[in-house]
Amino acid sequence: MQATSMQASITQAFRAALLRFDEQGQAMYDSDGLLVIGPNAQGQAVVQAVGAYQALAAQYAHVPVTHWPGRLLAPGFVDLHIHYPQTDIIGSPAEGLLPWLERYTFPQESRFADPAHAMNVAQFFLDELSRNGVTTALTFATSHPASVDALFSAAQQRGLRLITGKVLQDRHSPPGVCDQPSADGRLDATENSLLQTEQLIAKWHGVDRLGYAITPRFAPTSSPAQLRGAGELAARDDSLWIQSHVAENLDEVRWVRELYPQSRSYLSVYDDFGLLRARAVYAHCIHYDDADRALMHRSGAAAALSPTSNLFLGSGFFDYAAAKAAGFHYGLASDVGGGTSFSPFRTMLAAYTVGREGQTKPGLSLTPQELWWQHTAGAARALGLDGVVGNLQVGCEADFVVLNPQATPLLARRTAQAENLAEFLFALQVLGDDRVVERTVINGVVKH
Ligand code: GUN
Ligand code: ZN
Repeated sequence: MQATSMQASITQAFRAALLRFDEQGQAMYDSDGLLVIGPNAQGQAVVQAVGAYQALAAQYAHVPVTHWPGRLLAPGFVDLHIHYPQTDIIGSPAEGLLPWLERYTFPQESRFADPAHAMNVAQFFLDELSRNGVTTALTFATSHPASVDALFSAAQQRGLRLITGKVLQDRHSPPGVCDQPSADGRLDATENSLLQTEQLIAKWHGVDRLGYAITPRFAPTSSPAQLRGAGELAARDDSLWIQSHVAENLDEVRWVRELYPQSRSYLSVYDDFGLLRARAVYAHCIHYDDADRALMHRSGAAAALSPTSNLFLGSGFFDYAAAKAAGFHYGLASDVGGGTSFSPFRTMLAAYTVGREGQTKPGLSLTPQELWWQHTAGAARALGLDGVVGNLQVGCEADFVVLNPQATPLLARRTAQAENLAEFLFALQVLGDDRVVERTVINGVVKH
């Protein structure tokens, strides 16, 4: 059977090594596994059976099987925080976050007022996600509604589960990206930004596999009125996502203290406006104290960790030990264009390195299985999508990757000598990149 002829609407099976996770986040591995997928009542391709080939082969003997010897089937990666409009400024160095925003980010994002430009970048961005094995992303757009329409329609065409939203930024931003009053002059910039958000929610949230995220850029570029309005919109529907940035950079933290002196901390600003809850995902979460960590846990908000971005912009190191002790949810993210790679392999390796930083107790190193979980099932849990994406248990949507552990001579040599699952996965994390991703399957259909 030709893999490229795969259809979401038929029941079919794939035989290869297979990685998935149990409910506790422990890796489950079959060296010779079978993944059976088929349509559910809504026509969505989902996992119908999964496990050892020997255990399932007889029961599914009537189902066409594609055999990929020597390959690893794994859940599609989930990128918890990325900026599609920053695709073209990846690798732009600056002294730190705030100069980087001024010098590169805002000028680039101002181009997304043009729908044709937005669509061009959206298509390239989604190609790049697929090439790297990322099947779900929570992504920023820009403040222009056209940027949201472009990404949602491109993702819809491809059958992707994707979440995005119009950036809210009504102050401290150059005119090209700052929210603007309505054309008829009846609404000020803040009111207009909230109306545009409402209209985009009505148009896109819950359509096919798409979801809307209310997206205040970060506290410094939103007025109190805008954050209040965002919190009110979030309170209307708990299936909506919220995304923003917090406690990434020390200059940024100082600025927020000046702008919002009445809040206990930077994170508390969002709490004070009703923006901390389940399905709220905050990027970075570096410069926290224990009260912030307790608030994350209590509210159900999740952290998106972006180690390549934090290293590139010199922002700091996420404290894994303190986060684990506090018990809040987190997962991995590229944060492109602050982040330096679309590849989940590069992000997992950077996260490992950050986990080592400041390590004082033995045993704190993140295991390869745990890092992989943080970029798949763990990231899905942070989104409130556990059991939906990021895993290959029965009922999960059929988004997965086919990985080639022999993709480079060094990988082939190293993985052949791996003595256990941890060594095998770690070799992929240290040596792997987009060359490892042989196929990306979305909703049961090969896209890459
Ligand atoms: N804080 C506010 N905006 C941004 C952004 O675009 N990237 C990063 N890394 N941090 C931000
Ligand atoms: Zn970001």
